Amino acid sequence: MRRAFSVLLGLSAVLVLCFSISAPLMAADDGLLVARGEELFQSKEGLNVKIACILCHKGAKALDPAKINALGDDLPNVINKYLVEKAKGTAIAADSEEMRALVAYLRSDRLGSSS
Ligand code: HEC
Repeated sequence: MRRAFSVLLGLSAVLVLCFSISAPLMAADDGLLVARGEELFQSKEGLNVKIACILCHKGAKALDPAKINALGDDLPNVINKYLVEKAKGTAIAADSEEMRALVAYLRSDRLGSSS
């Protein structure tokens, strides 16, 4: 009985340790993705577009976080739509690093802070 208890205690200690290590790691990862998204949004090179997103979406025309939020899971499709129609680029895969970075940036509080 005692032994079972200490095994349980040991296991939960390991679990807590795992969480406390992985949470900041995941946060750091998110930060990198957001920074990458911001970079893509502001330049033509990363996305291989003719017009960078930032050129249209700045100042009064900056993307509105409320609208981005309202798009929900449709956000990658909408990004691709403007990527093709407005930025004159080629659509990117929903699970590509570029798309994940753009989505992370548009959903982050970095959106608007620099445009
Ligand atoms: C030539 C100008 C132009 C470029 C370049 C452009 N957009 Fe847009 N984008 C618009 C316009 C116009 C709208 C319609 C809504 C509005 O007026 O803000 C829009 C809307 C959007 C929306 C829908 C949210 C909303 O407010 O309706 C998203 C998301 C978006 N653009 C992302 C991007 C991304 C990402 C890029 C770069 C790959 C990009 N856009 C490049 C002009 C542009």
